[in-house]
Amino acid sequence: MAERGCYLLWLRHDGAGLLPFMEVIIQPTYQQLVAIAAEIIRDALLKKPNLVLGLATGSTPIGLYETLVRMHKENGLDFSDVTTFNLDEYIGIPSAHPCSYHTFMTTHFFNAVNIPVANRHIPQSTAENHEAFCEGYEAAIASAGGIDIQVLGIGKEGHIGFNEPSSSLGSRTRIKTLTQSTLEANAQHFGGTVDAVPKMAITMGVGTIMEAKRCLLLANGESKALAIARAVEGPITAEVPASVLQMHPQTVVLIDEAAASQLKRVDYYKQVYANKQKLLRI
Ligand code: GLP
Repeated sequence: MAERGCYLLWLRHDGAGLLPFMEVIIQPTYQQLVAIAAEIIRDALLKKPNLVLGLATGSTPIGLYETLVRMHKENGLDFSDVTTFNLDEYIGIPSAHPCSYHTFMTTHFFNAVNIPVANRHIPQSTAENHEAFCEGYEAAIASAGGIDIQVLGIGKEGHIGFNEPSSSLGSRTRIKTLTQSTLEANAQHFGGTVDAVPKMAITMGVGTIMEAKRCLLLANGESKALAIARAVEGPITAEVPASVLQMHPQTVVLIDEAAASQLKRVDYYKQVYANKQKLLRI
């Protein structure tokens, strides 16, 4: 009975569980994985209307934003008391640039939900005093009470935010130089030209991300399979910044079959998840 009580705490997905864990959920399709991510955020928001969300950009979370927008429009999910902090932003392009993360967030999420403008925070690429800006960003997160749920994508080399391989695992919000791999991956958003991609960015640090109460790491497609395998089953190393999430108190790794294809323990993760569904029906 005591054991079942423990399981139920673990299963609640509400941040109140006492057991640290990294849960790996493998879904057949991208749509199914973003649906689960959206449900986790919806449930947290219904419990805590002033939820503090850490948000990510890139192609991976687009379906999550679409699902949350649908929940807002069709089911009245209310974001009016929500505060958001984005992970990162390029340096050297104006916020209004079509490829900035400011523009991304406006287009894919902010324009379609009711988060007050004053509650939305995105690193400011044109800040003249970057150092003071970074300190202020950390202070703003702390004064909001910390991040309740941090949404994360993953780079091909295992970066989270723009914390490139070799980032200190205790790092805070700061400027990073982007690797050639990231410049090449992100060139698709800049007309396919690597030279057009800004070479630096402001990003929350790995230490900043680790302080979020919960993390949702999303990945789909074969191009992410190696990064996911190294992050979930490899050693914890600054060479793969996402691997430090193995030490995070509550991280859910939500991936499709292709992104799971280099994991050794796919069957086990599926079995664990199936058992969890069974327990929830008891
Ligand atoms: C960028 C972002 C990351 C994102 C990563 C993966 O580098 N800074 O936050 O997770 O790309 O992007 P995508 O989801 O497009 O593969």
